[in-house]
Amino acid sequence: MSFTKKVTTARLSYDGKELDLPVLEGDMGERGLDIRNLRQETGLVTFDPGMANSGVCESNITFVDGAKGILRYRGYDIEDLAEHCSFLEVAYLLVHGFLPTPSEYNAFSHLMNQHSMLHENMRHFFSLYPDHAHPMAILSSMVVSLSTFYPELEADSTEAIDITVSRLLSKLRTIAAFSYKKYKGDPIVYPRPDLRYCENFLNMMFHTPVNNYEPDPVVTRALNQLLILHADHEQNCSTSVVRAVGSSRANLYASISAGICALWGPLHGGANQRVLEILEDAMHSGASPKLLVEKAKDRNNNFRLFGFGHRVYKTYDPRAKVAKKICTQVISHLSHHDPLLDYAQELEAVALADPYFQERHLYPNVDFFTGLAYRAMGIPVNMFTVMFALGRLPGWIAQWLEQRDGEGGRIVRPRQLYVGPVHRTVAETLASKPYVHPTHS
Ligand code: SDX
Repeated sequence: MSFTKKVTTARLSYDGKELDLPVLEGDMGERGLDIRNLRQETGLVTFDPGMANSGVCESNITFVDGAKGILRYRGYDIEDLAEHCSFLEVAYLLVHGFLPTPSEYNAFSHLMNQHSMLHENMRHFFSLYPDHAHPMAILSSMVVSLSTFYPELEADSTEAIDITVSRLLSKLRTIAAFSYKKYKGDPIVYPRPDLRYCENFLNMMFHTPVNNYEPDPVVTRALNQLLILHADHEQNCSTSVVRAVGSSRANLYASISAGICALWGPLHGGANQRVLEILEDAMHSGASPKLLVEKAKDRNNNFRLFGFGHRVYKTYDPRAKVAKKICTQVISHLSHHDPLLDYAQELEAVALADPYFQERHLYPNVDFFTGLAYRAMGIPVNMFTVMFALGRLPGWIAQWLEQRDGEGGRIVRPRQLYVGPVHRTVAETLASKPYVHPTHS
């Protein structure tokens, strides 16, 4: 069932024919050309590498206005949710479409605790990875391995979905913390029944036999807010992957595992790690913010100012504004001055004042400040994208469910324009003695 409404038509004239294509309108006024009959009527496909101009679904989960810098989950502004909710409440909102009542929240929280452990066999997987395995590789392989321990989404009942959602949300947190302990060479710390989501994570990360970790309420609050900022973002790269894998009717764990791999890329969720690496390198090499900005403008190298620019936001990413505030609060609360924050703020000012960045509407995105906050919390750089995945998980799940229950749930299978060899035979190729590889001829 379609929720957008046809508001007008667009006339395509091609090859002596005319075709009226419906123009559909979403609830926030965005419009799309409905081309579902285009190939059948004209033999044409659209051509849109990177899908920057293509709407691939109707969705009632998240809305982004890239021109105004608006981000809403199920109609709530991100700033409102970050201020008034916990990450678990926002996870529930994304999956179910409404904020939980106190009894729903308590039931969900109870499920989170029940499913926070890993099967003991999985605990041993960690010892088989090389010492400095990247935690994103561990995360992705452990998530798809969960499907070997737990049956697929048994039924569509709210209860069955809550079990699978809480199992994934809770176990991903445990896997993330265990991967950190593996990286550090420290003994793993099991989840505790008396701690809430973020406190439990921080305790599993930083408690050791010789360091009785006490969750810091300011840090716990900041972590809740940072995870909320990352929880969903329309049809971004990794969410599109989760939906595409889910469209083949692969199970939820396999779909999320694929999404984790897509998020790992430095152009996507891996950018928060790259931002810190760039800032640290620049500080150590003495490169000025101005020098970095000039390097990012130089087309003769493929250096980019990670944490800047966005496919959709052509103004300040609203998440970056909140992340900047959180980052400053956490650093000052933990009463250590971080020169990297000063450098980042100077770099931001230089870039925003530069015509190259202004002409291309390049502003700080969600990844520019978040890493500095995680660093202040003691979370290492190679765990930053894992933190992004922890936050994004409820959004991936909500989008996966929407894809599965959506308009016929059709398998995602785009078209292409072929530009390769028209037709060759092996005999002809081998007959052209001596056989020389075509690219060498
Ligand atoms: C995330 O899609 C989402 O919603 C993603 C995300 C989410 O929540 O899921 O918001 C999370 O991935 C945030 C983005 C994190 N990535 C980075 O910070 C990497 C650095 N940024 C870029 O690589 C880039 O801006 C992208 C990938 C984010 C967007 O790429 P686009 O939309 O394909 O834009 P583009 O590469 O075509 O760039 C347009 C122009 C180009 O210059 P011209 O060819 O026009 O001269 O802007 C330039 C680019 O060279 N440009 C940059 C730049 N980003 C774009 N130049 C220098 N530094 C940059 N960061």
